Amino acid sequence: MNILVTGGAGYIGSHTAVALLDAGHSVVIMDNLSNSKAEVVANIEEITSKQVVFYEADAADPVSVERVFKAHKFDGVIHFAGYKAVGESVEKPLDYYYNNIVSTMLLGKNCLKYGVNKFVFSSSATVYGDNDVPLDEDMELGKTTNPYGETKAISERILTDVAKANPNFAVSLLRYFNPVGAHPSGLIGEDPKGIPNNLLPYITQVAKGTLKQLKVFGDDYDTADGTGVRDYIHVMDLAEGHIAALDYLTAGVHIYNLGTGRGTSVLELIQAFEEANQIKIPYEIVGRRPGDVAATYADVTKAKRELDWEAKRDLHDMVKDAWHFEKRLGK
Ligand code: NAD
Ligand code: UFG
Repeated sequence: MNILVTGGAGYIGSHTAVALLDAGHSVVIMDNLSNSKAEVVANIEEITSKQVVFYEADAADPVSVERVFKAHKFDGVIHFAGYKAVGESVEKPLDYYYNNIVSTMLLGKNCLKYGVNKFVFSSSATVYGDNDVPLDEDMELGKTTNPYGETKAISERILTDVAKANPNFAVSLLRYFNPVGAHPSGLIGEDPKGIPNNLLPYITQVAKGTLKQLKVFGDDYDTADGTGVRDYIHVMDLAEGHIAALDYLTAGVHIYNLGTGRGTSVLELIQAFEEANQIKIPYEIVGRRPGDVAATYADVTKAKRELDWEAKRDLHDMVKDAWHFEKRLGK
């Protein structure tokens, strides 16, 4: 298949581009590099020894989107492009609503106009709100707590309505849990700008000495050791989940959790990192981070049953590959 990958220079998009190319598909990347670098595209080509068509272009700009659809015959779109920082979305809601929702609408419009019937969307576990774990796809969605989460919930509804109105349209809404790690080559990975918000990128920067010590946000949650529990998934497993979603995509809307189904606490992740990489991570326990929940992890039975996909890599692979990537970064 020839697949348009928006946001393909970003963290998850770049790993998915590699997985697509490895599976024999062709890839056209559209990315405005607002949160990534052009060299990622060269690294995708180096890893796979295959060529990628790259447009430095804005998926929220009607002229740019149509230009790309006119130039290629696509079999499907995977839409990663978007802003993703929860805190920033509270400060700049309009930027988030505009970028994340207009891009979804424009891609949907062009799919209909140019006869592209497969659409895979990057959603998030955040749409579940504060539901009971394990989270499953049939649950009624909870209230989102920030504009970022709301853009995901709204995009899911828009795509669902488009599929209802167009019986040939096939939509896969993929709800990611906590993607971590990197391609084992160390050539692509997660390289956040500034001080990382997320746990594992923070840990790797402490390991490198860029940051002094980790702050553990709360040890008084109702979890086994009191720290927050999340469902961390290796980004290559997540990437392969997209290939499975594309392969099995039929008309209508299909929703899948992409996680491992296992919860890991902050202290367990620190310990896994220390053991796998033989590096001590200094940390202190501080107060809870506003907006955090105690525990989220996925019910992953639907993806296994319908897509024949499940995560294969374990915590050890995640922390090893994350550190391998961090070490190779020239900072
Ligand atoms: P990322 O920031 O690394 O990648 C997003 C890419 O999209 C970047 O390369 C950025 O330059 C590009 N982009 C942003 N707006 C664009 C636009 N208008 N036009 C073209 N390109 C644009 O983020 P990521 O972690 O790879 O996330 C990919 C998707 O997955 C996002 O939609 C994100 O919301 C979603 N998601 C991520 C996580 C996570 O923890 N990383 C969890 C759930 C969902
Ligand atoms: N944590 C720390 N210290 C840090 C960073 C995080 O203790 O410096 C803790 C958090 O409190 C939480 C866990 O580590 O218990 C994981 O935090 P992350 O920020 O890595 O991940 P979140 O689950 O909080 O956030 C992720 C995505 C968001 C998405 C959210 C809900 O990054 O985009 O899941 O789905 F909105």
